[in-house]
This record gives sequence, C-alpha cells and structure tokens, in this order.
Amino acid sequence: MLPPHRPEIENLRPFLPGLPDKTIPELQEILGREKIIKLSFNENPLGPSPLARRAVREAAARMNLYHDPISTRLRSALAEQNRVDPEEIIVGNGADDVVSIIAQAFFQPGDEVVIPDPTFGSYRSSALLMGAAPVLVNLKDFAIDALALLDALSPRSKAIFLCHPNNPTGTYLPTEDLQQFLKALPEHVLAIVDEAYVDYATAPDYTSALPLRSLHQALLVVRTFSKIHGLAAARVGYAIGPRDIIELMSRVRLPFNLNYLGQSAALAALGDLAHQEKGRRINEEGKAILYRGLKELGLRFWPTQSNFIWVYTGQDSWELTLKMAQKGIIVRPGATFRRPEYLRLSIGLPGQNRLLLKALENVLARRV
Ligand SMILES: Cc1ncc(COP(=O)(O)O)c(C=O)c1O
Repeated sequence: MLPPHRPEIENLRPFLPGLPDKTIPELQEILGREKIIKLSFNENPLGPSPLARRAVREAAARMNLYHDPISTRLRSALAEQNRVDPEEIIVGNGADDVVSIIAQAFFQPGDEVVIPDPTFGSYRSSALLMGAAPVLVNLKDFAIDALALLDALSPRSKAIFLCHPNNPTGTYLPTEDLQQFLKALPEHVLAIVDEAYVDYATAPDYTSALPLRSLHQALLVVRTFSKIHGLAAARVGYAIGPRDIIELMSRVRLPFNLNYLGQSAALAALGDLAHQEKGRRINEEGKAILYRGLKELGLRFWPTQSNFIWVYTGQDSWELTLKMAQKGIIVRPGATFRRPEYLRLSIGLPGQNRLLLKALENVLARRV
C-alpha cells in the first residue's frame, strides 16, 4: 500500500521528457540520424566558455571533498558584478531550484500566486507543490499586461511572478511600465522577476528590475547561468533580494545545493566577458536571419528580447514539430504552454538558423 502523501502533490505530475526534451544522443538514436540541431531548450549554441571547461576539469580532481556550502567566492563575484552585498544573494541548483526555494519559504495553502500566461512552467508547479493557488493572467497579444496582473491581486496574494523577458514569447515590460508596476504592488506581495534571458535583451526601454529595487521592497530577481553562460547542465542559478528575504530562503536551501563543479564553472564563466559578448552577437545575427526568413514564409512572430522566437503557425504545431524532427531539427511545440498552434524556436548558430528555416518551409509547403 502507498504511504499517505501530501494532497498538494495530487495536482503534480512527474516530468516525463517528450521528444523535444530528449538529449542529442537519444535523439540521434530515436531519429536514426547523426546530425541533430536542437532548438527546443533555448540553450547557448556556442557551448560553455572555455574558461568554465578548464575550471571544471580542475575542480574534478577535488570531487571527493565536500565543498564550500555557501558558495562564498561565487556569491562575492556576483555581488561585485551586480553592486549588491553577498548577503543579498542566494544560489541554487539552477534557477529552478531557486524558484522552488522561494515557494518552500513563502507559499502555503490558502495563498494565491499571480502568474502571467503563457510563461515558464516552474512558477505554477512550485505554487502547486506548496498548496498555493496559481492565478493565471493572460498576456495581451502575448505582451505582458501589467494592469491585468495588478487587477488579479487579492488579499490572499502572496506573490507575483514576472518572467522578464518572458519565456516563451520574448516580450517585456518597457521601463516606465515596469516602474509603475513595481510601485503599484502592495507592500506584502513578493515580486519575483525571473531574468533568465536578461543578457539577450537589447531594447533601449528594457531594464532589469535590479536598479528598480527601491520601488518595491519585497523584490527578488532570479537569474541563471544556463543561457548566456552556456552552463545548463552545470545547474547554476541565483536570486538577489533584500537580506532578510534571502535569509528566510537560506533556511530552506540544502547546504550543498550548488555542487562544486557548478560553482567552479560559474565563477570562471562570469569572468569570460568575450564569450558572453560573442553569445550576444551570434544571437543578434540569428535573430535577423530568422526574422527575415519567417517574414518570407509569411509567418507571424513576436519581436523578441531573448534567444528564442514565438511563432504562430495556424495549425497543430505538434505535427510540425514531429515533421521537423524527422529532418533533425528539434523545436518547442506551443502545446508545452497550452498554445498548440504556436512554436517556440530557439536561435541557433547562423547555419543552424538557415537549416531551421529550410525545414520549416518544407514542412509547411508539404501541407498545402
Ligand atoms: C524563464 C526561465 N527561468 C528559469 C529557467 C531555468 O533555469 P535553470 O536552468 O537555471 O534551472 C529557464 C529555463 O529555460 C527559463 O526559461
């Protein structure tokens, strides 16, 4: 007989990797082809920084030893880079872990958590995990609707998430709107601004929420090393916030949640400005290629501040995804975000983007 379990987990399901979630070696086997271009996870197509690779090789020799459980060196480096105190930073086993720590520290049954929709799935699942009720607020033509988010707040609201730029749409709140939004938030509501893609944003009126901290005290900015730093498998994320909020989160965090290889890789990657710059340049080049190609294909897409593009296909995009996969191109079907007629295309290397467009043209043409 199963031991009784927490009722909250009735609403959760294990993460079962579908085709777009498989690793490249798995895809090679499933699809029976050597060349796979994976554009379903918004990964860094340049790979990790060479400095991070070297740091991991060196760190590997000390894998038998428990490491610094509070990531002192990494937190100091992040503090310096972001002009905050190390006590205002908490690290996690990826940003996912950070979101889960926030939920464990703050959410409980009876709470509401306001979440834009569609967005990154962890916010909803972490709320559900703790028995809080997610309150989903539709984007407005896929733009973040700050007024609708504020309207959704109630006396039970514990927190509000903002994915900024938003995954999967690449949209953002212009600086003035973000300022107004933060100012309008009731004091007791925790604002969590996930800036996983902050490094790719180029719009002159895009800003990180970090310089706006004075506008709302209960503000957490969440970041990851999985994107611009190319360290997705190293699992490094962090949050910046007021030290009393960070202290509460630290009570929940497992002591060694950020492993030594991850700490070492992240510290090295942080100093590799050339790699970050190259990542941004490649992304801008890719964006231009994809914008042009998507226009030529007559597909509607949303201008992006990230390393992916949200595209309307007007048909079941799961079918398109499978057809593209047969050609070795793996994309993210909108069904992941309960928007089955859309696709999210990660921006790859120039050649990969061209092959992506060619495959898309081909699968769209075959249908008519
Ligand atoms: C918006 C957003 N936040 C967080 C994450 C997860 O980051 P990590 O790999 O650090 O867990 C992702 C991953 O794609 C993301 O898109």
